[in-house]
Amino acid sequence: MLIGWKDHYAIDDGVIDDDHRFLIAALSMIIDQIRKKIPVCALLRNISHVRGVAELHFKREEKLQKQSNYPCHRKHCEEHREIIRKLDEIVNQLADLPGDREYSDPDEVKSFLYRWILAHITESDQRMKPYLAEIQTEAELPLRLMAQR
Ligand SMILES: [Fe+2]
Ligand SMILES: [Fe+2]
Repeated sequence: MLIGWKDHYAIDDGVIDDDHRFLIAALSMIIDQIRKKIPVCALLRNISHVRGVAELHFKREEKLQKQSNYPCHRKHCEEHREIIRKLDEIVNQLADLPGDREYSDPDEVKSFLYRWILAHITESDQRMKPYLAEIQTEAELPLRLMAQR
């Protein structure tokens, strides 16, 4: 079952929602590609791309948390660091494998990507909503446009 954006995930009706739509679509696509057993080299390329996007998104979220005096800022940053650490571990693991092969441990990666969507984006991130409502977030450029630059 693919996971998609749902309206109740909305936090700011602005740039953070736009990022989350983009990330949920990208992560769901990778989960689907793992199921379809795409070769290691394609998986490595897509996960590396999503890692870069995640880093930009996390920086943006952390900046907005500071601006809005979000009280769980430190714990939230730790969750972001843990996601990046895990992505780096997966990227390094994939980089050591023959690129034309099928990935031998796909369930671990799939469940990490599911957890990122379900435990972080649709739970942790939701707690920022009342704080972001106090500040203007629309001035930032959406990730999908930054990626095209
Ligand atoms: Fe987020
Ligand atoms: Fe977050």
